[in-house]
Amino acid sequence: MLLKKLGVLSALACLFLAAPAFANKPIVIKFSHVVAENTPKGQMANKFKALVEERLAGKVEVKVYPSSQLFGDKKVLQAMLLGDVQMAAPSLSKFKKYTKTLQLFDLPFLFKDMAAVDRFQQSASGQELLNSLSSKGLIGLGYLHNGMKQISASKILKVPADAHGLKFRIMSSDVLAAQFQAVGAAPLKKPFSEVFTLLQTKAIDGQENTWSNIYSKKFFEVQPYITESDHGVLDYMVVTSKQFWMSLPEDIRTVVKTSLDEAIALGNKVANEKAVSDKQKIVDSGRSEVITLTDAERTQWVEAMKPVWKQFEDQIGKELIDAAYNSNK
Ligand code: SIN
Repeated sequence: MLLKKLGVLSALACLFLAAPAFANKPIVIKFSHVVAENTPKGQMANKFKALVEERLAGKVEVKVYPSSQLFGDKKVLQAMLLGDVQMAAPSLSKFKKYTKTLQLFDLPFLFKDMAAVDRFQQSASGQELLNSLSSKGLIGLGYLHNGMKQISASKILKVPADAHGLKFRIMSSDVLAAQFQAVGAAPLKKPFSEVFTLLQTKAIDGQENTWSNIYSKKFFEVQPYITESDHGVLDYMVVTSKQFWMSLPEDIRTVVKTSLDEAIALGNKVANEKAVSDKQKIVDSGRSEVITLTDAERTQWVEAMKPVWKQFEDQIGKELIDAAYNSNK
């Protein structure tokens, strides 16, 4: 009898001791992304972790998973809706399953530079697009820059005819597929994590990406030529699930959002710097030759690819395309 009583008492003591630990368990934010840590997105995610954990010490813990360690971009949004990951920042080209409107950002030669991209993203139309995933249970918390895309290949590309018959890896975007089809090339939708091997084994002839991604993922080591085309933008939307976001206590949500905004500002600064410094590192490596286009050659690419706008006008909306285009002025 005495033993039985002692057993009950020790079980109660265990519960009593465990309860406060359970009550104080920090909220965990898993942040999954596919790029290296020395990139705009990698640095933004790490800064976000540092700020949140400093300001909400013991209350919120941020676990960052770079380089597709947790999820690739194909699975991450589904995983977010299931509660297996709380934040991610896929490229704007990877939301097709959730909304057609964001295809806007893939239209070739829509933005003349990153300043125009930024003006549009900060405009009323750009900010409204952060809500375009709402009916699917996702919230856009902000945009993050990477930069303008360049085309790397196994041969010199100066005019669209040079790309004819070549296989290019693209992100999972129908607009990007149409863009390469418009120059007679064969687009292949493949995950970012597979690009290096596909290039190295010559299963594909080329790919399009930013200087930062070409450098950090070493694509320049297996691609002898990079055409400086600046033909499109690769930016991100930082997203979370509505369910997770609304479950956060308001004071915590405010600090998380402020910290994210600050981390994004740092990421954008890194993006601007890397567009210059990573290009220079590639040039200095001597592994890949950077091909500069003359105005006449560039015009040929614009003329070949621009009909893609019309092809996707119904899905994206003419007004939105006009608003984005007007940010070039
Ligand atoms: C990324 O920058 O997040 C990946 C881009 C790509 O898939 O090419």
